[in-house]
Amino acid sequence: MKTKITDLFKIKYPIILPGMSWISVPELVAAVSNAGGLGYLATGPLTPEMTRESIRRIRQLTDKPFGAGCTLLMPGARENAEVLIEEKVPVINISLGRGEDIIERVHQYGGKVISTVTTEKHALAAEKAGADALQVTGHEAAAHGGLATTMVLVPAIVDAVSIPVVAIGGFADGRGLAAALALGAEGIGMGTRLSMTKESPVHQDTIQKQLESGILDTLYSNRFDGLNCRVLKTPAASRAIRRGMSLPRAIIAGPRIAREMNLPFFKLMLGMIAQGPKTMMTLAHMATAFDKIQAATEGDLKNGVQLIGQCQGIIHDVPSVEEVIKRTVDEALKIQKAMGVKLEGKTGGTSKPAAAKKAAPKAKAAPKAKAKKAVSKKK
Ligand SMILES: Cc1cc2nc3c(=O)[nH]c(=O)nc-3n(C[C@H](O)[C@H](O)[C@H](O)COP(=O)(O)O)c2cc1C
Repeated sequence: MKTKITDLFKIKYPIILPGMSWISVPELVAAVSNAGGLGYLATGPLTPEMTRESIRRIRQLTDKPFGAGCTLLMPGARENAEVLIEEKVPVINISLGRGEDIIERVHQYGGKVISTVTTEKHALAAEKAGADALQVTGHEAAAHGGLATTMVLVPAIVDAVSIPVVAIGGFADGRGLAAALALGAEGIGMGTRLSMTKESPVHQDTIQKQLESGILDTLYSNRFDGLNCRVLKTPAASRAIRRGMSLPRAIIAGPRIAREMNLPFFKLMLGMIAQGPKTMMTLAHMATAFDKIQAATEGDLKNGVQLIGQCQGIIHDVPSVEEVIKRTVDEALKIQKAMGVKLEGKTGGTSKPAAAKKAAPKAKAAPKAKAKKAVSKKK
């Protein structure tokens, strides 16, 4: 496949593994890059030393291009960005901040920067700041998708900017890839889909719950981590959202939060105070959500909260990363032919992916009941 994104990042297929804390670890990143896509290391929960070690581990596992994510708003992100620059990471994904200085320094060693955005205004600002590409995250996405759906947001931003766009939020198969390209995107990101693979570190109990859950089994609220955030619908998630956040609670939880974020407590507090009261509340909120997210990743859905996208409802199996990427590409190519037939007014062609076809008979009687035995990965 050849798109502006495959050219820009020097990859075979325009498919990206986004940064997912505790999930986008070196093994998963390398699996995606080895399969022809581009994996990003999630640096959110890592110290600068851990970030450097992880990059070196990725380089042991693959000689293909890879990336790393940096959520600029978070305390510790700047230090991690320094390591990414020193290590000359080929692609850096920045979010929640413009990062002109980072972009300039990445360009000096020939690296590329892709900025995550959820609005046209932020897309224009990121382009002006010098980003090479945009990762446009629609409403369907796990975690921090925008208020507009991918279907509307992607063409709106494609029309507004002149740099390539990667569409993200709701993509789980070749239909999604074909649709994204039709909307003017040059590639897709898949978080939920790639978090449900054999190489993913997500615990099998959590994956099992996701397999049994449908497209409506998510909650989208700014009361979980302070930003609009989509999570798996469970009693624990409803409880966390009902409870919300108060500053005294965030401060009481401070030392534990700092430990979990691998930051000295005073540094966490200084980082929070430096950003002003509104951002401070958001950070406190995000930090207290951290341990719930980690717990869910480790299989504890009684206390933990899993970030998940609506496309969990169209995912019915747990294949390898290579299989996901191969069939996404194959399906998109088949769809291209089927679309040609449809657009020319002839009959024939199908746009149902193989996995969905297999699932169809049971799915009608009891949606996703077939998923009970679907987890084949061993823990
Ligand atoms: C299990 C899981 C964990 C995630 N963790 C994070 C995270 O720590 N920080 C973040 O900004 N986004 C996180 N995301 C969101 C992804 O980076 C990406 O934006 C999203 O998954 C795209 O939508 P999709 O799930 O529909 O593909 C996570 C997503 C999933 C599925």
